[in-house]
Order: sequence, then C-alpha cells, then structure tokens
Amino acid sequence: MRGAVTPRTDVRVLGAYGGHVLVRLDSGSSVTVRPIRPDDKVALADSHGRLSAETQRRRFLAPKPRLTSADLRYLTEIDGLDHVALVAVTEEDPEEIVAVGRFVRLPDSPGTAEFAIVVGDAYQGQGLGRALAITLADAARARGVKRFAATVLSDNHAIHRLLQTIGSRLDSTGRSGEVEELLADLAA
Ligand SMILES: CC(C)(COP(=O)(O)OP(=O)(O)OC[C@H]1O[C@@H](n2cnc3c(N)ncnc32)[C@H](O)[C@@H]1OP(=O)(O)O)[C@@H](O)C(=O)NCCC(=O)NCCS
Repeated sequence: MRGAVTPRTDVRVLGAYGGHVLVRLDSGSSVTVRPIRPDDKVALADSHGRLSAETQRRRFLAPKPRLTSADLRYLTEIDGLDHVALVAVTEEDPEEIVAVGRFVRLPDSPGTAEFAIVVGDAYQGQGLGRALAITLADAARARGVKRFAATVLSDNHAIHRLLQTIGSRLDSTGRSGEVEELLADLAA
C-alpha cells in the first residue's frame, strides 16, 4: 500500500495534537510524523538547507536558499489550532527532518486554511507527501477546517495530484503567470 499510515496512538489523538504516526514508505523504510516543536529550529534550518534549489522554489514559489530567524520562529512556534504543522523524521535519526506540512487558518475565512508541504528530494515519490497531507487533512477537519487553499506553480503536477487525493473536489481559483491558486474541499 502506498505511504501506509499506521497510527502509533490513534489518529484522533493526533487530531487533538498529541500523537505520533508511523508512516511506511514505498521504499520499505519508515518515518515518524509528529507535531513540530519550537526546539526544531536548527533541524528545520538544516532540513531546508538540504533541499534542492528547485524543491525550495516549488515550496516558496521563489528562490529561498535559507530560512531567516523570523521564518524559523513563524514556522515552529505555532498554536496547534489555527496553525498546525507536522514534521516527518527518520527512524535512524529523530533529529533529521525529511518533510514538513502545515496549514494556517485564514482569519477572514476560518473554514479555509492555507496549506503548504515539502518533502526532501531523496524522499519524494514514495508516498510520504500523500501520507502527511492525509494526516494534516484529518487534523484540519477535527478543527473545523473544511478547505485547503494552496498557492502553487501551475506545472507542479505532484501537488495537484496530492490535493486531488485528499479532497473530494479540487478547483483552480486563480492564476497569475506561473502561479496558480487551488482550493481543495476536505469533505470526507
Ligand atoms: C509535492 C510533494 C509534497 C509531493 O510529495 P511526494 O512525497 O513526492 O508525493 P507522493 O509520493 O506522496 O505522491 C503524491 C501524488 O503525486 C504524484 N506524483 C508524485 N511525484 C510526481 C511527479 N513528479 N509528477 C507527477 N505526479 C507526481 C504521485 O503519483 C501521487 O499521486 P497518486 O496518489 O495518484 O499516485 C513533493 O514532491 C515536494 O515536496 N515538492 C516540492 C515542494 C512543493 O512542490 N510543495 C507544494 C507547494 S506548497
């Protein structure tokens, strides 16, 4: 099965922002998905530094060779309710972050959250993005979020596929140059 998600506790516990989830990759290796923590700043900066320039660009829609201190504070110091972020770490080294996914509720549209995700180059195409996104969608629904909005490069076929998989419907709501706005309905 692709990117099998095996709850170590119960996904509903993770929905309450407590648990860890074991994800078995297509390669046969496993990673643990857990909530991000404020003390993940160094590991997150290192993880970002290991991404290829193209993966950084697809995540941030512009060249982004490094994360600033302000970026790291924003990305790790979250409330777990309106801003939820999960990291995947390897079994061998729990300090090695290989993927990050998050959603941030829109203040003026609380049923919608901005979604963003990145999987390290060496781990792409093994079902990890899918598993992380499914786990995030569960956490989002548990918090009353009904839609994920995502700003992506229009030629990013993987993120289109991913959002099709986790949502019941995917709409393109706008386009400017190479950037496209997507809206995924999370109805089960
Ligand atoms: C987009 C991304 C998160 C997907 O994660 P992943 O672990 O590589 O993807 P998965 O292996 O879980 O595959 C998810 C789906 O995308 C498809 N996919 C994966 N790579 C693909 C590619 N290069 N081209 C087309 N489809 C692709 C898979 O077939 C799968 O679809 P399926 O479920 O119908 O089989 C990852 O490629 C990534 O980090 N890209 C750079 C950052 C980025 O683009 N972020 C999105 C903007 S916020």
